[in-house]
Amino acid sequence: MGSAITPPEERVWWKHPLDRVEGTWIVLALLWSLIMFFMMPFWHVYGKQNLSNEAYRISPQKFQAKAQAMVDQYTVRTEVDGQYPVVRPPAGSDVYLIARLWQWWPILELEKDQTYRLHLSSMDWQHGFSLQPSNINIQVHPGYEIVTSVTPNRSGEYGIVCNEFCGIGHHTMVGKLYVTE
Ligand code: CUA
Repeated sequence: MGSAITPPEERVWWKHPLDRVEGTWIVLALLWSLIMFFMMPFWHVYGKQNLSNEAYRISPQKFQAKAQAMVDQYTVRTEVDGQYPVVRPPAGSDVYLIARLWQWWPILELEKDQTYRLHLSSMDWQHGFSLQPSNINIQVHPGYEIVTSVTPNRSGEYGIVCNEFCGIGHHTMVGKLYVTE
């Protein structure tokens, strides 16, 4: 009698015909993997959580410089004792959000029903941009600039949480985004 931990008695065990139940499970697993495979493009087209994006190579220094230029030009106020600039860039412009250990910087203030080009990049490790409560998710990598078009359709205050584990302060990596009328 063979068992799961001893080698099979017959060396050429794979030449045996398939058991009917075994064949059924192989077919089921194959079908399920195909369904999951086609769910990826399906959710991209019909879902609202995975936005189309473009990705470009960029160094953290260059990305930081672009974000800083936007902050220098369009900061309207600060929050948390001056640590977080609130930036209100003109409608239709390029807006930058930095992910780093452990913050989202700066705070963006966008106008409802206006379209912006949102640029995301990380200064250090991989982070996950997760906009709450809309549950829009984008992975953020160092060395890459992820660009996506966003048109906020509801005003209010949104939270940005990090949904890729990035070390000891991961749970504190929360940011904010305002959408005004
Ligand atoms: Cu950044 Cu988790």
